[in-house]
Amino acid sequence: MAKTHDQTLVVEYDEAGDESVLQARVRPLAPPGPGEVLVQVVAAGINHIDGFIRSGREATWADEPFPRGSGSDFAGIVVSVGDKAFPSGTEVIGHVRAGAQAEYLVVPTTHLVRKPKDVTWEIAGGLYLAGATALATLDELRVGAGDTVVVSAAAGGVGSIEAQLARHAGARVIGTCGDRNFDYLRQVGIKPVRYGEGIADRIREVAPDGVTCFIDNFGQDGRELAAELGVPQARYRSSDDRRLTELALLQDDPDSVARGTDLLARVAELAGRRAFTLLISGFYPLADVAYAYDDLRRLHSRGKIVLGTRPVTTYWTLKARDVQEAGA
Ligand SMILES: NC(=O)c1ccc[n+]([C@@H]2O[C@H](COP(=O)([O-])OP(=O)(O)OC[C@H]3O[C@@H](n4cnc5c(N)ncnc54)[C@H](OP(=O)(O)O)[C@@H]3O)[C@@H](O)[C@H]2O)c1
Repeated sequence: MAKTHDQTLVVEYDEAGDESVLQARVRPLAPPGPGEVLVQVVAAGINHIDGFIRSGREATWADEPFPRGSGSDFAGIVVSVGDKAFPSGTEVIGHVRAGAQAEYLVVPTTHLVRKPKDVTWEIAGGLYLAGATALATLDELRVGAGDTVVVSAAAGGVGSIEAQLARHAGARVIGTCGDRNFDYLRQVGIKPVRYGEGIADRIREVAPDGVTCFIDNFGQDGRELAAELGVPQARYRSSDDRRLTELALLQDDPDSVARGTDLLARVAELAGRRAFTLLISGFYPLADVAYAYDDLRRLHSRGKIVLGTRPVTTYWTLKARDVQEAGA
């Protein structure tokens, strides 16, 4: 635990590798400078791309020196004097290039939006990269009424936001998932279709008038499937396209930060008025960050996995996840 505001617990790593290289360490904390505030982090998200950057599978930023921080998404409370827009006590959601997984963060206010009161800390902590990616993708594809959209991995972090926001925009939405997620997707208004052999026929069965748009999060056979379903090339987004969207959202030049913050503000507002619900199916204490990434890597989380800096218990909260399986 950080004892004062001049030091903080942070998640760092000293070499490329899997989640076992992650370490929680106490580090000194510089006081906020002009245009910056000190945020007491309440919850922080984890994303696949953090793991790809850490392992070296993602070469962007491969030259950054060690030790490196981990994670881009956080939500917390301004605890420094702050400024007019973000005075002390303001509840915020924010993003950074890396290093969000910490108890305290000094961050420029350009990276922050106010947390809507009705958005819980867990959701707010995991909102940035998944939410901004989902919104940017739907914007690019101009998804709206009259569309029939297929979203792959629709029960996952990005997919579940994309699918619900596409529906909110008036589209009919089909989500690919395993049998275990049928109930969940139906609950949020998405037509579930099981992935695997024969999927094209199953999609045609539920979309007899055709599919107009295809968002492939999972990235195995999406391009062939979209072509087989007659989706125009311009309205197909691959997992590689998603990689580029996420990399753009992690850049820290002023234009990229401003775009990321604008998208975050829109996502937060949509979450606040329940245009979508982000299910948190894993909530881990910050110090158990390696277990959280291991869980994510298994590719069966529902919604998001989030880290808490002050959980009320050290027991891992795997909410809304294994209920069906336990009874099966
Ligand atoms: N290209 C890149 O650089 C890049 C960047 C980010 C993410 N990704 C990939 O995008 C995918 C989803 O990311 P996310 O953050 O949304 O992930 P996530 O939250 O980890 O997604 C997990 C979901 O994937 C579903 N799933 C598992 N196997 C599937 C399959 N064969 N077909 C369709 N869905 C399947 C699971 O559903 P069930 O439990 O029902 O099986 C689960 O709901 C991941 O595979 C990730 O590696 C790629």
